[in-house]
Amino acid sequence: MLRIKLAKSLGFCSGVSRAINIAENILNKEKGKIYSLGAIIHNHEEINRLRGKGLINVKSLDEVENSSYVILPSHGSPRYIIDAARKKNLKLIDVTCPYVSYVHNICKKLYTDKFTVIIIGDSHHPEVKALIDLAPGAIIIESQKDILANQFSAKKVGIISQTTQSKEKFFNIVGLILKKNHNIQEVHIFNTICLDTSHRQEEVKKLARAVDKLVVIGSRTSANTKRLLALGRRVNKKTFLVEKDNVALLSHLKGATDIGIISGASAPRWLVDRIVSKIKQQK
Ligand code: F3S
Repeated sequence: MLRIKLAKSLGFCSGVSRAINIAENILNKEKGKIYSLGAIIHNHEEINRLRGKGLINVKSLDEVENSSYVILPSHGSPRYIIDAARKKNLKLIDVTCPYVSYVHNICKKLYTDKFTVIIIGDSHHPEVKALIDLAPGAIIIESQKDILANQFSAKKVGIISQTTQSKEKFFNIVGLILKKNHNIQEVHIFNTICLDTSHRQEEVKKLARAVDKLVVIGSRTSANTKRLLALGRRVNKKTFLVEKDNVALLSHLKGATDIGIISGASAPRWLVDRIVSKIKQQK
């Protein structure tokens, strides 16, 4: 008999939930065009649902008609985007997660206090780009190999993390930075990985140990989902990413007796429920 173990961490985190509520309210209330600059959150299925309600997704502000509403993403935006939008007289709806804004404040303070800012994160991720914008010259460390390439002479260093990093990787890299850079005299370390991310990461490891196969629900564009997938796979090779309730889902699960299910922070609960009920139908 097939048994399904559901993680406690299913559906949106608080920051994503807040962003979607704000976006939905404005879509319900306003008559004119409502744009989003890039994805509000990193989940294709949820973005498609909002598109169905009228949201127009654009890559650049050049595609936006003057004086329209523009929703900025939950993972934060660089200041130059906000300035450019204001120049175009656009009505900005900033749905940046409050925790991401808190990390922005730490980053700004470190920069103002003349610390060399080190960000442990993915250089191409919009969240990290927004941080670089707040601390020009910040050093980005994506992996251990960047540490050798980034030996520096700075004496005052402030280290922060992308909110969706893995805790293990963050502390490991912090240790290596300190070991390789002997000039550092003062270091301020902020573990800015958000609590929701940490909880999901702990849970995915436990769940992966307890089941035959593990399903991580979320989009491949989502940093926190990718991290859950990697952590799950480290413990249980039969860990799969499922983006929607399609045929691939069922072929992944053939032969399993115990299936674990967890989701990334940007996967909507309605999608999780749909996938769970599809699996149950196959029992
Ligand atoms: Fe915010 Fe953490 Fe979610 S930073 S958007 S609560 S994953």
